[in-house]
Amino acid sequence: MRVDKGETLNQPPALFLCMGSSCYKLGAQRVLHRMQVLLDTYGLGDLVELKGSFCLGPCGEGIVIRFGDTYFTQLSPDSIDERFVQDILPAIRVVQQLSVEG
Ligand code: FES
Repeated sequence: MRVDKGETLNQPPALFLCMGSSCYKLGAQRVLHRMQVLLDTYGLGDLVELKGSFCLGPCGEGIVIRFGDTYFTQLSPDSIDERFVQDILPAIRVVQQLSVEG
């Protein structure tokens, strides 16, 4: 994993998981490990890059992930599996679909 604040063109889309102090205290490290497993489980491990990030801004809203312009908040180690399937996976699929359609 690389800590990065920005994105570069011609790279796979990136999920930025906040590793700032508030998110870290709530279990961001555990969410990171679980996200890596989930991305691999759904065959996305090579298609989406998971990166740790400095504070993403909304510190009072639980663990935060940013994907493009979308922020997923109120994440937790206990809810990440459900939130991944309900919210994050559909967002990734939309971006994948758009890139296929060109
Ligand atoms: S510490 Fe995670 S949004 Fe600020």
